[in-house]
Amino acid sequence: MPHPTGPQEQRQPPASRRRSFLKYLVGGSMGAIALGLLRPNDGSAQDLEQLCSTFPHNSRCQDYLPGVPALDVDGTPLAVDTWLPSTTPGEPVAVTGIPNQITYLVILDGPSLAPYGLNPRCPHLGCTVDWNTDQQRFICPCHGSQFDGVGQVVRGPANQPLPLVTVIERQNQVRLVAQAPILDPR
Ligand code: FES
Repeated sequence: MPHPTGPQEQRQPPASRRRSFLKYLVGGSMGAIALGLLRPNDGSAQDLEQLCSTFPHNSRCQDYLPGVPALDVDGTPLAVDTWLPSTTPGEPVAVTGIPNQITYLVILDGPSLAPYGLNPRCPHLGCTVDWNTDQQRFICPCHGSQFDGVGQVVRGPANQPLPLVTVIERQNQVRLVAQAPILDPR
């Protein structure tokens, strides 16, 4: 009756067999991770959303619309070709789309649309800041923190900038993704 382990393995002392097993385990795990990196998604809508939200310029995302459409005050999706020329650089535009949250779109020279928007939740204690056109600043009604047009702190007590969301312009739409860009572009 053949023994379940081979003759060479039988000759290995227990510590050596443990090392072999660990090498097998680590090698297998590394292989699985590598495969996952090489093949980050399997093409499902959820995986595409994740991929295209994080890497909107990936070639697989040309026709995919990640996130949700940005809506104006009437609840109408923004059409970039008609809306953007009517905006003023430096004057943030409040939109909805992400559930339970206003997002301020940042208008750059051109006018052009910044690839990020501002979540007006004050980093101090969480009040909602408002854009003040006269002062050209976001002002927090709770303890007076102030932020410039791209959300950087101008006055405390807040000591962090306004949080970001990702903004993607595609197929004449403005899309909002409820996660910050990988790198803060400000
Ligand atoms: S919550 Fe905004 S300054 Fe305190």
